[in-house]
Amino acid sequence: MPLCLDEIVIWSRSFDEYINFLDLSESDLQKKILAVADGASSFNCEARQRGYNVTSLDPLYKFSQSEIKKQIIKSCEQIYPQIVKNKNDYIWSYFKSPDHLKKYRMDVMKNFLDDFIQAESMERYIAGEIQDLPFKKRSFDIAIVSNFLFLYSDRLDLNFHIESITNLLYVANEVRIFPLQGNLKNSPKYITPVINYFRRLGFSVRIKKVNYHFTKGANKVLIINKARYEERVRALPLDASISLYLSPS
Ligand SMILES: C[S@@+](CC[C@H](N)C(=O)[O-])C[C@H]1O[C@@H](n2cnc3c(N)ncnc32)[C@H](O)[C@@H]1O
Repeated sequence: MPLCLDEIVIWSRSFDEYINFLDLSESDLQKKILAVADGASSFNCEARQRGYNVTSLDPLYKFSQSEIKKQIIKSCEQIYPQIVKNKNDYIWSYFKSPDHLKKYRMDVMKNFLDDFIQAESMERYIAGEIQDLPFKKRSFDIAIVSNFLFLYSDRLDLNFHIESITNLLYVANEVRIFPLQGNLKNSPKYITPVINYFRRLGFSVRIKKVNYHFTKGANKVLIINKARYEERVRALPLDASISLYLSPS
């Protein structure tokens, strides 16, 4: 994925969108949450205002606030005409019109920028990549990924998806990912092999319909939970447990 700011398209979602499309309840929000590929979303900022504990990780955070701001403006000029042109690919209920969407997205990104510049926020916004998460085992209760995995299946292959989710399951007990479809009509579909892979390992994997539907067809969240896997490992003799941790099948 891009390391250069010019290649990152910044178009970001709010706290309300996150809780709807990731199906986060009040009790989920009370837990320790890691938001990976969180970009210029206002989830972290709005979560903090409500007293929740969220850490965000994205390669974007190695850039300065003014560099990110410039890229937000550029991205908007790039994306907005595409949305107007492909208006029929979306369901206009959460957002009333492309204009409403644009204003909403710009407000979200302004909230992020205002939060990102504050010194204390540096502990909440970590520059990093999903391939190499700088956290200890089980540092978080829930790891969430919005609009990154599955969405960029045309550029990120199946191995990348499996390795990324494995990394997330190392640092958190549960992983939630939205959406489950690619952003191109002919994007490869990795959802079934991903589900099969983690089910074979003994994880609890389910798809849940959510109360958010903007891009047509994108109204489901993937939830992978390690509780059952841990039970299975605990029930085995030590040698067998070690090989289960190491072996993918
Ligand atoms: C479409 S944006 C989604 C932003 C936010 N999650 C949202 O839904 O509004 C995709 C994000 O993935 C980030 N990204 C790209 N490569 C990444 C990587 N290797 N690890 C983690 N994040 C990455 C980009 O910087 C960008 O912020």
